[in-house]
Amino acid sequence: MNIILIGFMGSGKSTLGIRLSYRMKQPYIDTDKYIEHKTGRTISEIFETDGEPAFRLMETEALQELLSDGIRDHIIATGGGMPMDPANHGLLKQLGVVVWLRIRPETVLERLGNDTKRPLLQREDRETVIRELMQERAPMYEKCSDMIVDVDDKKVERIMDEIFTKSRGVWKRKKRMRYE
Ligand code: S3P
Repeated sequence: MNIILIGFMGSGKSTLGIRLSYRMKQPYIDTDKYIEHKTGRTISEIFETDGEPAFRLMETEALQELLSDGIRDHIIATGGGMPMDPANHGLLKQLGVVVWLRIRPETVLERLGNDTKRPLLQREDRETVIRELMQERAPMYEKCSDMIVDVDDKKVERIMDEIFTKSRGVWKRKKRMRYE
């Protein structure tokens, strides 16, 4: 069973992904790193030279490749914008159990107030950008997730416990529904 982590920038997808990978003894893939490795460029460079739409196509391609490689029993962290393209919803859901790490804008600002790596946040009005993007994205995260975990004020261990205990049941239910 693959576990796919989705959610806003700063929600802890990579940190949790790596920790879960150790705990569940499942390999870890980060779609941002996958794209960086494949193109030999950083996400910031891709945004700068090719623009955001080109990056979004690369994200869809990455999902398609993971699916056609038939990867199993992996932990997959995605970029925060991955669920914004409805074309990715089916791909994400086919890949495994999709977990939305839900976070409040205030917590994102606390965590990423000084971030320099995320192209979308390199603006004076960072707080407004976070709030607006969050409002736009929340319905999409909800639509393509199989389970939701609130991450604000929780320790990594507690979040991992929640994912660990709930995901197996969610996966079983999902498989049953597919064959009914
Ligand atoms: C993005 C999130 C980033 C990265 C890119 C775009 C987004 O990943 O994919 O900068 O649109 O939210 P993280 O969510 O891991 O920061």
